Amino acid sequence: MNRSEETIFIIDNNKMNFRHRKLIQTFTCVVLLLYSVLVVYQTFYRSVNSADRVDNKNNKVFVKKHVYERTLAQEPSLNDAYGISMSTDSPSATATVKPPTVTLDDVFISVKTTRNYHNSRLPIILKTWFQLAKKQTWLFTDTNDSDFQTRTNGHMINTNCSSSHNRKALCCKMSVEFDTFLNTDKKWFCHFDDDNYVNVPRLVKFLGDYNPREDWYLGKPSIQAPLEIVSKDKRAQKVRFWFATGGAGFCLSRALALKMMPLASDGKFISIGERIRLPDDVTMGYIIEHLLKKQLTVVDLFHSHLEPMKFIRRDLIQDQ
Ligand SMILES: *[C@@H]1O[C@H](CO)[C@@H](O)[C@H](O)[C@H]1NC(C)=O
Ligand SMILES: *[C@@H]1O[C@H](CO)[C@@H](O)[C@H](O)[C@H]1NC(C)=O
Repeated sequence: MNRSEETIFIIDNNKMNFRHRKLIQTFTCVVLLLYSVLVVYQTFYRSVNSADRVDNKNNKVFVKKHVYERTLAQEPSLNDAYGISMSTDSPSATATVKPPTVTLDDVFISVKTTRNYHNSRLPIILKTWFQLAKKQTWLFTDTNDSDFQTRTNGHMINTNCSSSHNRKALCCKMSVEFDTFLNTDKKWFCHFDDDNYVNVPRLVKFLGDYNPREDWYLGKPSIQAPLEIVSKDKRAQKVRFWFATGGAGFCLSRALALKMMPLASDGKFISIGERIRLPDDVTMGYIIEHLLKKQLTVVDLFHSHLEPMKFIRRDLIQDQ
């Protein structure tokens, strides 16, 4: 190649390079444009698609909840009464058939007291465990006490029952406690006396082991054998049943309370107590064990004044 030829070639080559570069630039532009369009399209498509998926997921949760409610409910009509509360942000939890977790708000705590014990017993309760369940605890008494009404933020209920410690007055208070519970949407009714200490967190944890849609009568008997009474029917017959001693505290599930309703609500509890001539806690056992044929579940974690506290191991007190 001579010099001039070489020059021409170089010029030619430069021309070629220039054209080539332009082509590549155009090509790159087209590719970039196509890519951008693709990205925009994909983003749009994905957002539409994910909205779809969320919907599907919600539907699935809904269906599961529905199945769950239907398997657990013993009577469809009871469903509404429970105000089923399941969180939708944990779909895995709704899929398993476990008792719904109990929170303090699911428990109605009633404390039976009387005007003569207001000053000696209520201040201790108000200073201690009441503080952990101020909204869930109600005190049932037999007078208007404006001082304690203020101190409990209006949680004193005057039952209008007699203040004597006789059978009728006791059944009268239990009847008001029971009716007041039925008027709430709580899942558990737990009765205590004004000399009980309620271990609130432990109580809530304990109830978590039971399903409020099943019939549960949880408490501790104070006698070693079932009580035997002779019914006053035409044929005098022996009736045997267990009862949870009221002084140790006991709990009823809402399902059981609803079954008791035709027999014991609206003051009918008092009539039954009168008929068998026995106190409130015995009447409770009679209604549940004898009339409804539902058994008491003995819970050793409840304690009454009838048992010596020294038998409770010190390191286990927090579990009672
Ligand atoms: C107690 O209070 C209620 C309403 O707050 C009232 O109707 C009733 O008469 C009061 N009873 C007594 C004995 O003061
Ligand atoms: C007690 O009586 C008062 C007034 O007579 C009434 O307002 C109140 O509702 C009654 N309480 C209960 C628990 O029945």
